[in-house]
Amino acid sequence: MDNFDYQKNRELLRLATAGSVDDGKSTLIGRLFYDCNAIYEDQLLGMKKVSKKKGFKEIDLSLLTDGLAAEREQGITIDVAYRYFNTSKRRIIIADVPGHEQYTRNMITGASEADVVLILVDASIGLTNQSKRHLFLASLLGASHIIVVINKMDAVNYSQKVFEKIKNDFINYATKLNIKDLEFIPVSALKGDMVVNRGENMPWYGGDTVLYYLENTPFTDRNLINFRLPVQMVIKFGERLRGYAGKIESGVIKEGEEIMVLPSEKKTKIKSIIVSGHKVKYAFSPQSIIVRLTDEIDVSRGDMIVRGNNRPEISSELEVMLCCLTNEPLRQGKSYLIKQTTKTSRVAINSINYRLNINTLHRERVDRLELNEIGRAFLKSNDQFLFDVFIKNRNMGSFILIDEITKNTVGAGIILNKGQKKAKNEKKKNFTKRGAVLWFTGLSGSGKSTIADEVREKLEKRNIDCERLDGDIVRQSLTKDLGFSRQDRDSNISRVSYVANLLSKHGVLVLATFISPYRKQREMVRKQVSDFIEIFVDAPLEVCQRRDTKGLYKKAGQNEVKDFTGITDPYEEPKKPDIHLRTDKIPLDECVNKILAYLENKKLI
Ligand code: ADX
Repeated sequence: MDNFDYQKNRELLRLATAGSVDDGKSTLIGRLFYDCNAIYEDQLLGMKKVSKKKGFKEIDLSLLTDGLAAEREQGITIDVAYRYFNTSKRRIIIADVPGHEQYTRNMITGASEADVVLILVDASIGLTNQSKRHLFLASLLGASHIIVVINKMDAVNYSQKVFEKIKNDFINYATKLNIKDLEFIPVSALKGDMVVNRGENMPWYGGDTVLYYLENTPFTDRNLINFRLPVQMVIKFGERLRGYAGKIESGVIKEGEEIMVLPSEKKTKIKSIIVSGHKVKYAFSPQSIIVRLTDEIDVSRGDMIVRGNNRPEISSELEVMLCCLTNEPLRQGKSYLIKQTTKTSRVAINSINYRLNINTLHRERVDRLELNEIGRAFLKSNDQFLFDVFIKNRNMGSFILIDEITKNTVGAGIILNKGQKKAKNEKKKNFTKRGAVLWFTGLSGSGKSTIADEVREKLEKRNIDCERLDGDIVRQSLTKDLGFSRQDRDSNISRVSYVANLLSKHGVLVLATFISPYRKQREMVRKQVSDFIEIFVDAPLEVCQRRDTKGLYKKAGQNEVKDFTGITDPYEEPKKPDIHLRTDKIPLDECVNKILAYLENKKLI
């Protein structure tokens, strides 16, 4: 419904473009306008003059967007610059999203409104980290249609091979993302191929031109169900009468309908609706309206008018995807101002779950997000948020973070969930499929702890829940009362096995490092634990003695330590360990990789 330009009788299409000047974005926009005859005569004359001055043979189409560039340089606060042009079928609104990495915010604001996101790539360069970032953001923001325009085909001799290679690289990356519709078009914005006209240089390409795609892409459904009107201003008509102004974030409202004001939960009816000075029977998102209510109830700025039986969620805690937009990192524990719809309140970053590595899409554990980094986090406020999750309602589910002192926008994000409880459960579901006990056995000094610590670090980086149980540490608490007689060692292992089993049942990967010299002991653990992985950390006694990391071999040799494994006490080697690591023969990272590969193979990670 709101995809229609009533006056001009044309459908409206919102297009966001992402890419940098170097990818030829200005030229592409210029080409679209030029070939659609959408540049004003005087503007065209001006462009021709400047082009001539600059020594161009033909017209420099990138000059068209120069006006926008100038505005931006003057520091005028435009988040996104908009340009309009008409085709015979549609009125197209281009949100010009600057391509530099620091403009992620604009990407977010531009793309979150768009029906189509166009990502520009230089054919002579191919898939870059920046393109990955654009694609990732577009998918995160739920863009329904994404076109990857592979530009500068003229610079690569219009080679089909180059096009296919870049396309494949994109697809490899995109398969890990949630994208509904991804299109690839080879283009030369400079020469005009495949923008508005097909040109003659790429007969091998059987798809549509950029313009055809823009004119024929089906529209995404906007949210016309959940009526949300945040009150931006209270307008007084005389003594007692009040009107409430705001932009409808989503949904439709009709005259006479029952509504509820939040947070007061007071009910009344819509008496009248005014759009652009005219009384109307109904209004819809994204119109800005003034409503009058049947009863003069108390409504203030920051309240929200909704339907009583379709209310947004209310919570003081949010689980969000957050992007840092400045050089000053967003830090766990720090407070910010948050602007969501028209309301600004104070919020703290309670925790950062992980940072998403945009290139590998791995999750990395951090306590801060640096410029352009994206991560999952929990926000907590003393205020209550009225929101919908982003996938359901873009406008109600997005926000920006503002520095309390400088008042600069420092972050932007989308709401995934409310509250921390629900999210914690989700973490378990996502991260660890099932627990297991990795039992490292071997002589003192064979390398058990070193390897286990390294494995743990790798697992934690991937946000997998794991826990370390280490002989030396456990013996200071849980088994403090025990020595090294056969009986005591049995008790030691038996208690540890009990704890390890409990942990693994709760989905934790337990990394247990104990000499556990007796076969029978280890078999007992195997019986008790459902997923038991025996890792034999093996180095010949002489090597361990030479390493003597704790100086105990020397002491044992001098009889200062009794019953020392390998010297005066036996070590029974595993006959068929699940993993056998000769630490005197293979380096540490290889040992670690062997274990990770084993876990992957067993689908434990
Ligand atoms: S186990 O035999 O019961 O599995 P555990 O792994 O808990 O032993 O503890 C071994 C650690 O205790 C060694 O790494 C070493 O630092 C210390 N230790 C002290 N005395 C002895 C000993 N007699 N034998 C083996 N380890 C000892």
